[in-house]
Amino acid sequence: MDTLLREPQSLDPAALAYTPEVAEATKPVYERVKRVIPEIEWPFHAPIIHAIDRLKRERNAVVLAHNYQTPEIFHGAADIVGDSLALARQAAETDADVIVVAGVHFMAETAKLMNPSKTVLIPDAAAGCSLAESITAADVRLLRQKYPGVPIVAYVNTSADVKAEVDICCTSGNAVEVVESLGVPRVIMLPDEYLAKHVASQTSVEVIAWKGHCEVHERFTGAEIAEFRSRFDDLVVIAHPECPPDVLAAADFVGSTAHMIDMVAKNRPPRVFMVTECSMSDNIAASLPDVEFVRPCNLCPHMKRITLANILTALQTLEPRVEIPADLAGRARRSVERMLAVKPKPRA
Ligand code: 13P
Ligand code: SF4
Repeated sequence: MDTLLREPQSLDPAALAYTPEVAEATKPVYERVKRVIPEIEWPFHAPIIHAIDRLKRERNAVVLAHNYQTPEIFHGAADIVGDSLALARQAAETDADVIVVAGVHFMAETAKLMNPSKTVLIPDAAAGCSLAESITAADVRLLRQKYPGVPIVAYVNTSADVKAEVDICCTSGNAVEVVESLGVPRVIMLPDEYLAKHVASQTSVEVIAWKGHCEVHERFTGAEIAEFRSRFDDLVVIAHPECPPDVLAAADFVGSTAHMIDMVAKNRPPRVFMVTECSMSDNIAASLPDVEFVRPCNLCPHMKRITLANILTALQTLEPRVEIPADLAGRARRSVERMLAVKPKPRA
């Protein structure tokens, strides 16, 4: 039996009551989120946050949460938050024994690649990604045959099978730097067509794109941006590069989720439209009372599979675990490590 496994004592409903002790212990968290979580909801979240906190200490566990997680997870359960690049870097550096990834499956796989001997948990193994689903390892092998000698760059939003077939990974936070680091005139970039097109607009390297799309970002349209601009003349529009080209052309700033957050935190525009998954606006609105967020809501159904309750269950049961066969993991890890070795460009 796994020596880490103990009785799941916190499943006991009495252990999840909103007691004065729980209210006191979670007060600092509520202070951070009170602008985005109504007071009436707090008694439901607080006992789970309190139990997660206790169990993390018992297990020597960390929770890595993507910027799209809901505020009670982002502010209440996470030890490390960030974009895919930050989560991959932090996963490579943590000395925790157990890593819980509050994100989607490819993010948990990346954490496992960087920590083959640790326990990596994804609270709902069905938390997928339409981009990762859009391409297989066999597709990549066909691309190699079609374009011999052309390096293949894979967005981290891919399975470990795909990462094992490519030359290097990238994220939306470092794609241009990764493409330029290869020192070649032409690359294949997969699977996100819109990210590849955006990168092509930022570099002289020719980029051959795959036709994958993010089911959340592809729903935004240039007409929608124009409509919001016509309503608010001081609106600053910042978009994720997974959005279609007409949306990116209409945006004032394009960047990864972390770059979008930095942009708003540094510049404090009075009114912002974050053209991306909508929980991110809630997460930063919690700490930026002077910024008004215009929030048409496109949710990622995969990210939303992760809840406080299933994070707690994962910590109690140490399941579901992410496992990757050693040979495949070795090849996929090399692509991620090559990406992590690329120096980030200084940003304004
Ligand atoms: P970031 O790397 O910018 O956080 O994006 C990940 C993602 O899945 C966006 O949809
Ligand atoms: Fe994948 Fe899009 Fe969800 Fe990001 S928002 S995880 S790209 S489906």
